[in-house]
Amino acid sequence: MTSKSPTAPSPTILLREPLDALLTRYGRSPLALVQVLREVQALNGWLPRDLLSWIAGELGLTLAHVEGVAGFYRFLHLQPVGDYRILFSNNFTDRMLGGQELMDDLCRRLGVVPREMRADGRVSVAHCSCTGMGDQGPALLVNHRHVVTRVDTDRVVQLAEFIEERVPVADWPSQWFHVTDNIRRADVILGTPVTPGAAISAALARGPERILSEVKKSNLRGRGGAGFGTGLKWELCRKAPGDEHYVVCNADEGEPGTFKDRVLLTRHADLVFEGMTVAAYAIGARKGFVYLRGEYHYLLGELQAVLTRRREQRLLGASIQDQPGFDFDIDIHVGAGAYVCGEESALIESLEGKRGTPRIRPPFPVEHGYLDQPTIVNNVETFCAAAHVALSGATRWTSVGTTRSTGTKIHSVSGDCERPGVYEYPYGTRIDRILEDCGATDTQAVQVGGPSGTCVSAFEFGRRLAFEDVPTAGAFMVFNRSRDMFRMVRNFAHFFAHESCGFCTPCRVGTALVVKRLDKIAIGHGSRHDIDVLFELDKLMHTSTHCGLGATACNALRDTITKFRPAYEQRLKSLHFEPGFELDDELEKARQLTGRDDANAHLEEWA
Ligand SMILES: Cc1cc2nc3c(=O)[nH]c(=O)nc-3n(C[C@H](O)[C@H](O)[C@H](O)COP(=O)(O)O)c2cc1C
Ligand code: SF4
Repeated sequence: MTSKSPTAPSPTILLREPLDALLTRYGRSPLALVQVLREVQALNGWLPRDLLSWIAGELGLTLAHVEGVAGFYRFLHLQPVGDYRILFSNNFTDRMLGGQELMDDLCRRLGVVPREMRADGRVSVAHCSCTGMGDQGPALLVNHRHVVTRVDTDRVVQLAEFIEERVPVADWPSQWFHVTDNIRRADVILGTPVTPGAAISAALARGPERILSEVKKSNLRGRGGAGFGTGLKWELCRKAPGDEHYVVCNADEGEPGTFKDRVLLTRHADLVFEGMTVAAYAIGARKGFVYLRGEYHYLLGELQAVLTRRREQRLLGASIQDQPGFDFDIDIHVGAGAYVCGEESALIESLEGKRGTPRIRPPFPVEHGYLDQPTIVNNVETFCAAAHVALSGATRWTSVGTTRSTGTKIHSVSGDCERPGVYEYPYGTRIDRILEDCGATDTQAVQVGGPSGTCVSAFEFGRRLAFEDVPTAGAFMVFNRSRDMFRMVRNFAHFFAHESCGFCTPCRVGTALVVKRLDKIAIGHGSRHDIDVLFELDKLMHTSTHCGLGATACNALRDTITKFRPAYEQRLKSLHFEPGFELDDELEKARQLTGRDDANAHLEEWA
């Protein structure tokens, strides 16, 4: 680990050799900019301007462009951040487990002000969005690479000591970094072993046209949120003209409370790659990418090992399974802490080494995606499901689930329950069944699909998780009656404001205004007028934002105002307009200036 004083001499000379090797590995391509920045930062700790300038020169880019990209991603730093950079997950379920108190404790022990580097450059402590460890929180990230699960006071005490004594992270207790899979219920995907290559063989036996029609017949719909028909997406891409076609696996999994893709990538990486390879065969692609969220960097080595093994097994590379002309390989691109990069067009921008700003759509990625070429983007779980369809056929797949929601869905269950973890059920399973299975009692609400999803209250627990009833991208956050739903919504509002990419005004300003109104209510200055304004903001953002982040940012707010109104009303100061500050206090300066402090100079006296 290097020391990081803002006045230190340029590190460029010191790092020249490893940097050269790194750039050579990435072919000095501007497309690799995000990867290069991430890795350079890992070498140097942060990204000083002279280093960015050098990278810009080497990649044939302008410094302004490189700075613009580096400035976009939360895990890239243009200022020194400390040898040890500790990021506590700010997800609401981590907070329910005491994450905030543990962070405060660590800051106290280390003498650190949150979000500021300690004067000696040793350490900084801040929040990050959800780390994807909702089933084993509270969790934190160290230097963006290592995740510590189940943080408790003992770990905080030891953590502070390690940092003070400069113990390298590699020497910290290995059990701190242990991530358990917590598979609690397995069905078709989690419970059926698939021999590597079996789904590819089945696809090859059918041929690309027939595998495409099989996926269409299966009525498989995307598991990433929008639920678009997978077969149709693949068909549109296959038919779109282009020099190359691309397959992209969306492993960004940034929706707070979601961690099922983490488990699939850990336990079923072969199945994910198998599904991608089947997709490549169907659409005629030679290149694929996994976009792995930065928080899951710890999975990178194992995923690369699986890719290497598959190349050796002739399941990737040239002439897969000796099929002439069927060449396909996969690269892994690691994200750098931006929730919006889960949106497919922002993800593609990021893959191209740019800021993750969502594109104007249409055109859609199936026609103009990566490098403007036809591209399919699918969720991790969708690829696993597609591999099963290829292997067992559409009829087997449609025999599970409902007519409009075929097959199974994997849920990430967290919050107030005895058995948090990953549960796979046929589509159409009732919410109360899952609550029973996970050991949830006295539940007042379930946030289905994460902050951008649906807040379901107790009287709706008979509803079913399916596209036609309660759709979900996978999060299932349980809240018992001791929880304050207002605090949950406020946490979500801060999340969206933090993650808004700032490209369009309704979202950039709207998410900030929502936070302001909720903060105003939280500190006891709220009125009914504020609730009306929040409703208006929801309507405005729902219809006018550039991408789904802004459009869904108020979903939980709207649901909770409707279903948990007392959580808001008990905080209201008045039923009419209330300013966000104490008027009388604000007039103190004026009273001092005029030398008046008699009763008539105080507002209460006039009320
Ligand atoms: C702000 C935002 C974040 C998203 N994050 C993810 C994500 O982490 N993983 C994912 O698969 N889809 C995510 N999506 C949905 C993707 O845009 C896209 O619809 C999905 O990857 C398509 O795959 P599917 O058809 O298999 O669902 C996100 C969408 C938005 C608007
Ligand atoms: S809606 Fe938000 S995240 Fe999406 S483009 Fe606009 S500012 Fe960016």
